[in-house]
Amino acid sequence: MSQQPEIIRGMQGVVFTISNVSAINGQEGKLVYRGIPIEELAEHSTFEEVSFLLMEGRLPRKEELEAFNRMLKAHRALPGEVVDVLKKLPSNTHPMDALRTGVSALAGFDPDLGDPIEGMALMGKDEEARKAYWEKGKRMGIRMIAAFPTLVGAWEQIRNGKQPVEPRDDLSHAGHFLHSMLGTVPSDTATRVMDVALILHAAHGMNASTFTGIVIASTASDMYSAITGAIGALKGPLHGGANQQVLRQLREIQEMGGVSKIQEWLDNLLSQKGRVMGFGHRVYKAYDPRARILKRWAGELAKEQEKELYEIAVKLEEINIQKLGQKGIFPNVDFYSGLVYGALGIPVDQFTPIFAVARVSGWVADILEYWKDNRLIRPRAYYGDQVWDRPYTPVEERG
Ligand code: SDX
Repeated sequence: MSQQPEIIRGMQGVVFTISNVSAINGQEGKLVYRGIPIEELAEHSTFEEVSFLLMEGRLPRKEELEAFNRMLKAHRALPGEVVDVLKKLPSNTHPMDALRTGVSALAGFDPDLGDPIEGMALMGKDEEARKAYWEKGKRMGIRMIAAFPTLVGAWEQIRNGKQPVEPRDDLSHAGHFLHSMLGTVPSDTATRVMDVALILHAAHGMNASTFTGIVIASTASDMYSAITGAIGALKGPLHGGANQQVLRQLREIQEMGGVSKIQEWLDNLLSQKGRVMGFGHRVYKAYDPRARILKRWAGELAKEQEKELYEIAVKLEEINIQKLGQKGIFPNVDFYSGLVYGALGIPVDQFTPIFAVARVSGWVADILEYWKDNRLIRPRAYYGDQVWDRPYTPVEERG
């Protein structure tokens, strides 16, 4: 009987690689991308520049950023056949499922996607072949970064019975995303808010969706397969899908009577071991720095209907921190993001796709980094039964 080893559920705290793309200090509530604090990037950078920073490990020179912007704009448009695939989906398809489907369809039109065996170049001694496969993966990644806003926006138009919006070259990445989603050219303020939101969501250490993408890529599979898997992981309400659920909970409190009902609502939720969505984090045991920035924008933007929801959120945060703060449970990035998106007129079930439009840059950067020293990811499970010679019982003798 082999001794049961220590089981680390959820791989909590397990370190399996060295990464320099982004890092979190959970005790102090710090987040850096390639060493630069997220507050600096949110204040001074753009999503395009941050995407370059995450992939290349440094900020781009002026001409490099201009070339990168041109590359993204050149790949915004979707092949007509991909739009046709989206049009075949039931109109009630969740936007994350539409995005996952669209990315899979897009793969078929990527000239760099070849035979699966090509991935073996990652493991070979031929440095040229390995670099060539890596560069192919990078080009595929950049094409997806460029196309995600168009895919998400196209589904919003199609499910409402409209034609996807023609991409415009005079709009930034964030502006293009809002234009694709809402069908109108966004204001400078809305564009800036979306740009900051995309920066804040671009990367976040070894979160579940990034790890999923790396597991798939570690088999020497292709970048599209890895990103499709990552989308599936991000959809989960424990991970990226929480922002949609935060709005649901705030509206529940609003319907109960608003701020005065928060304590009753919270006591009821916690008595049933429920979770306050947008709160808590596997790594942060302090206030998520991204939530601070989004809280400010939510306060500035919230008007009419969101104003009351914002006041409920601020009060819920205060009461929650009193109750759960000593357990290291504080607001995470999802707690205020939904209020910001709601103020921009974005439908609630499109909140998590926004997360994906941003995080695809982090997924690509982390996969490219892992591919630099690729190793198949294959952990173990402890065989609890420890039975090695159970007899086969013919079907007629089974009770
Ligand atoms: C993001 O990984 C990333 O980096 C994610 C992310 C990124 O950018 O990629 O940062 C994005 O922030 C995702 C988090 C969004 N999810 C939610 O907001 C859902 C609600 N939060 C949780 O379910 C929870 O906090 C997790 C999943 C985020 C983390 O949970 P853990 O680390 O697995 O903690 P746990 O489930 O073991 O809980 C520990 C204790 C439990 O109480 P006890 O059983 O010990 O008494 O804390 C309690 C939990 O009940 N708890 C909560 C809570 N979160 C944890 N209680 C109430 N409300 C919560 N939100």
